[in-house]
Amino acid sequence: MSLRKKYQPYFKMGAAIPGRVLKEESVLRHITEEYDSITCENDMKPENLLDAAANQAQPEKYDRNPALTFEKVEPYMDFAAANGIGVRGHTLVWHNQTPRWFFTKDYCADEDAPLADRKTMLARLESYIRTVVETTQERWPGVIYAWDVVNEAVLEEGLRESLWLRSVGEDFVLQAFRFARKYVKPGTALFYNDYDTFLPWKREAVYEYILKPLLAEGLVDGMGMQTHLTMETSLEEYETSLRYFGALPLQVQITELDIHNPDASDSSMERLARRYQKLFEILLQAKNDRTANITGVTFWGLGDDMSWLSAFRKERSYPLLFDGKLRPKKAYYAVLEAADEKE
Ligand code: GLA
Repeated sequence: MSLRKKYQPYFKMGAAIPGRVLKEESVLRHITEEYDSITCENDMKPENLLDAAANQAQPEKYDRNPALTFEKVEPYMDFAAANGIGVRGHTLVWHNQTPRWFFTKDYCADEDAPLADRKTMLARLESYIRTVVETTQERWPGVIYAWDVVNEAVLEEGLRESLWLRSVGEDFVLQAFRFARKYVKPGTALFYNDYDTFLPWKREAVYEYILKPLLAEGLVDGMGMQTHLTMETSLEEYETSLRYFGALPLQVQITELDIHNPDASDSSMERLARRYQKLFEILLQAKNDRTANITGVTFWGLGDDMSWLSAFRKERSYPLLFDGKLRPKKAYYAVLEAADEKE
């Protein structure tokens, strides 16, 4: 049994992976066994697709038509295509991991270089989305089944202050989804993705500032709940958010699941397992009673050694289903068990 086989009747099971594992045969076997979806942990983000050297060498040539490079994503896409694995495209528009020079007049990399005007930035936005979407569609048809079109754009009081907001203006989210809709083939779902969506204010802000206007134009197909949890996050609030987004005419995907846990003791890993089990019971219940059309669950990392959390939390974290050697932990069996209960 494996995650993808067990969950095949319900939704895709995926993991975010770093590029270096694509050279390791045993890890690739692990991925094809356990998952039917992958996300590039970093390599599909704008900082890795934008060709800094080309754009900066010929800013007049690329002013409205930025030069991109697909070198880093090729190995992921080739691997996914060869093994019948889907890819979540992550992410087209984000305030983070997008270089400042992309927003400046003449792609100038000076710290205080003035920003390009709205017209130029709208052209760059459209061209960027078009090139990424069309290139991946042409070279690897049908492999990307969902795009995180915009990532993490809201705060409590409205849109987050960002270079996108400053250079394009309040409508940058709408514009990004319009361009994405224009270029993606039907069947590829467009997602808005965000963190802490289990917080009451966050789910309401996401609806008010993002989903409502997008739904009015039929531009969004799914809500991505990142789901970086801790051992304390309220699973009741989590379930409320899941059902809240599920009540909208949208798919829901869990896009970046992990549960921070700094204690590797047996009893703590047992508690982690029970928490994962409870979470998957909630997901399966919502799927089965049709209160949320969950179409995928992606873990943010393959094994504990690879998790971003140890650096982010500044303490060693043991948040995933597999240990550093990709051996299944108690949490792995607990997630399989949650699906057994449904059979
Ligand atoms: C956010 C992003 C991810 C990743 C994580 C932390 O959730 O969406 O791409 O960067 O932060 O690693």
